[in-house]
Amino acid sequence: MIPFLDLKRQHAVLKAELMAAAERVIDASAFVLGPDGRALESELARLCGAPHGVGVGSGTDALRLALTALGVGPGDEVITPAFSFVASATTIVMAGAKPVFVDVDHDTLTLDVAALERALTPRTKVIMPVHLYGHPAAMDRITALARARGLAVLEDAAQAVGATWQGRPIGGWGDAACLSFYPTKNLGACGDAGMLLTTRDDVAEHVRLLRHHGDSGRYQHVELGYCTRLDELQAALLRVKVRRLREWEDRRRSIAAEYLEALAHLPLELPFERAGARHVYHLFTVRHPQRDALVAALGELGVGTAVHYPRTVPGQPLFGEDGQARWPEAWRAAREVLSLPCFPELTEAEVAGVIDAVRRACKSL
Ligand SMILES: Cc1ncc(COP(=O)(O)O)c(C=O)c1O
Repeated sequence: MIPFLDLKRQHAVLKAELMAAAERVIDASAFVLGPDGRALESELARLCGAPHGVGVGSGTDALRLALTALGVGPGDEVITPAFSFVASATTIVMAGAKPVFVDVDHDTLTLDVAALERALTPRTKVIMPVHLYGHPAAMDRITALARARGLAVLEDAAQAVGATWQGRPIGGWGDAACLSFYPTKNLGACGDAGMLLTTRDDVAEHVRLLRHHGDSGRYQHVELGYCTRLDELQAALLRVKVRRLREWEDRRRSIAAEYLEALAHLPLELPFERAGARHVYHLFTVRHPQRDALVAALGELGVGTAVHYPRTVPGQPLFGEDGQARWPEAWRAAREVLSLPCFPELTEAEVAGVIDAVRRACKSL
């Protein structure tokens, strides 16, 4: 069996370093808002070209608090793609605002900029592009459009740490961005963790307050806050991993290059890297009109796969919109996408095994 993802392999290699980092934190016994958290904030802010990093409990919390810090509340609209992980939209609802779903570009499954322009209203406050699967959204056009209309941009970079657009890292293009360190992400913690990146001093300061009970210092609680700080143990473990991030990205890209070449002539739509993008292949996602049959055939051939995502966001029972006519690209993607194994520890024999199985499975359909 070739697994879709096997995190145990990464942790086996790093075990001694991870245990030493955990031991250091336990010995120091500073578990909340300590030195490793601060160091990780600086390391990731630098990597993503943003002046500030603010560690929080999850990527979801980073989005949620960023929206409030950007002034989003009841009566406001936030534009978000119809095809993403559900948290891109639920955080808008949590902030008291209305998610306005926009269709995605067929090739990259990121925000369709023309559709985005059509969705703007006087109530639009923030545009939230999602760098889905590790492919950056068209940040030059999105930020130019936002600037011309006085709107803020919040990048959902949960899947895309390390990606670049026109040579500039994602995470530093907009007013703010979220990173997720959910264990399966390219930079994954050993539990939940996340970070807000921001180019704005006021947003950094506000999220620091919001993550810690609205405390402006010494038990002065100036507004309704939350309890969602980056765990110090997770920060220390992530600092071990962040040193490998570039090497892991290169390996993901080289696996992707092998798949792209070997699967090019099959009746399968392959991921697309737009000119100017550096895709970090958090997921290597192909498309096929008989997706479910292909999943079954690959399973029989011993290849693990996953579907990201089987429904559009507005099509989730929570939002309850069918949406085939309003968001046709998102709707089609939800029926066709299928992610193949693409993680740095995959062996060359396994990559060859996936290629062979995909060829055979396509032929059998
Ligand atoms: C696109 C996207 N946005 C937001 C999130 C939320 O991140 P987290 O799971 O760390 O809360 C995730 C990942 O889970 C995601 O993939």
